[in-house]
Amino acid sequence: MASGAAPAPRGLIATMALAAGTPLVLLLALFGAGVLPLAPALLGGAMVLTWAAGLAYLWRRDLETLAADLARLRRARDAEAAALSRRAGREAEILALLPDPLILLDAEGAALRANPAAGRLFGDDLPALLRHPALRGAIGRVVASGAAESVALAIAVPLPRALEATVLPLPGAGPERAVAVIADRTQAEAVERMRADFVANVSHELRNPLASLIGFIDTLRGAAADDPAAQARFLAIMAEQGARMSRLIDDLLALSRIEANEHQPPAERIDLAALLARARAGFEPRLSAGGPRLALDLAAPLPQVAADADQIMQVLQNLLENALKYGAEGGEIRLSAEPVAAGGAPWPGRAGVVFAVADRGPGIAPEHLPRLTERFYRVDKGRSRAMGGTGLGLAIVKHIISRHRGLLRIESAEGQGTVVRVFLPAA
Ligand SMILES: Nc1ncnc2c1ncn2[C@@H]1O[C@H](COP(=O)(O)OP(=O)(O)O)[C@@H](O)[C@H]1O
Ligand SMILES: [Mg+2]
Repeated sequence: MASGAAPAPRGLIATMALAAGTPLVLLLALFGAGVLPLAPALLGGAMVLTWAAGLAYLWRRDLETLAADLARLRRARDAEAAALSRRAGREAEILALLPDPLILLDAEGAALRANPAAGRLFGDDLPALLRHPALRGAIGRVVASGAAESVALAIAVPLPRALEATVLPLPGAGPERAVAVIADRTQAEAVERMRADFVANVSHELRNPLASLIGFIDTLRGAAADDPAAQARFLAIMAEQGARMSRLIDDLLALSRIEANEHQPPAERIDLAALLARARAGFEPRLSAGGPRLALDLAAPLPQVAADADQIMQVLQNLLENALKYGAEGGEIRLSAEPVAAGGAPWPGRAGVVFAVADRGPGIAPEHLPRLTERFYRVDKGRSRAMGGTGLGLAIVKHIISRHRGLLRIESAEGQGTVVRVFLPAA
């Protein structure tokens, strides 16, 4: 109800005065002209005044009740509006509290509102997500049919993710026609895949050492039962096979742990120079006299990087171990690090730190280079096994660096040695 429609009481009283004034002036004029004698004129005037006063009184009372009614209605309307906005605020709060991304959509599938979880997960990529053909199709069907629907979505940018979107219809006359609740299934699917891979890889890699253990156990029980010299020799081999199986399982578990949180970059700031020095010191005892030297070459100061110190230490250990196992003939292993500026050289092209492990060993033939980071890929299986390798070292390195949003580059020339470079972006 519009309050402007009610006339001001004062204006009405003025109208009343005018209405009463006109007959009074007429009576006065008639009296003045001598047409009307005094007594009837006074009587007529009194009647008009009484009539006007009575009428004014009644109208005023009506107006007052009207004003009171209006005020009451206005108060009720304000209270209702306040309750509504309290409820809207409460709904926004609940939306903000929900941990899953939630998007309110119009009939065309455009986002009207998204909760903070959606903002955190998709940021500027939300419009791109809503253009996904599978999601668009589901929204169209849900708006048309009024029945909820779930779709699986695979998105590639900014990171590969497996999503499940549940689209629910919203009844009512508002512009919101549907709501999409998005569940991030990336981690769950990665775990499922890893479990399947784990079983396949492990059974394959464990078969040989296990077969050899079983064979030796049979021999110890039978043919070698009374041969202490053979027993000692077989037990040494068995211990080595057991250790190999245990290393393999350690590496597989490390790999699956890294993969499980690969899409979550580390936040901790680390002092890379100190870490490199620690890695070198830890490696020192493994360098035998007369074997290769390990040189450390740091271009100080290095910019800060956001990194997981344990994982970067693991990268350094794996690379140094490879240099020692496959490149020791060259005599020198060099661990170096330098800051890099944005733009500069084509690789890495971003600001951060590049650290490298270089050896002067026999190197790697170019056809192997692209495959070195695959699980269980070795150039020379026999040699890798003889050296205690699992074939997982560089796969672990690759996944750790990918979690750090860094880059890995392996350069090698046969007969000249190998350089493995790792780029970590500046924090
Ligand atoms: N510095 C290096 N020089 C020569 N070959 C290397 C070097 N680093 C790695 N390789 C090759 O890459 C393969 C994969 O390495 P890695 O993933 O660490 O597995 P592992 O060392 O357990 O065999 C090795 O088996 C080896 O053939
Ligand atoms: Mg290795």
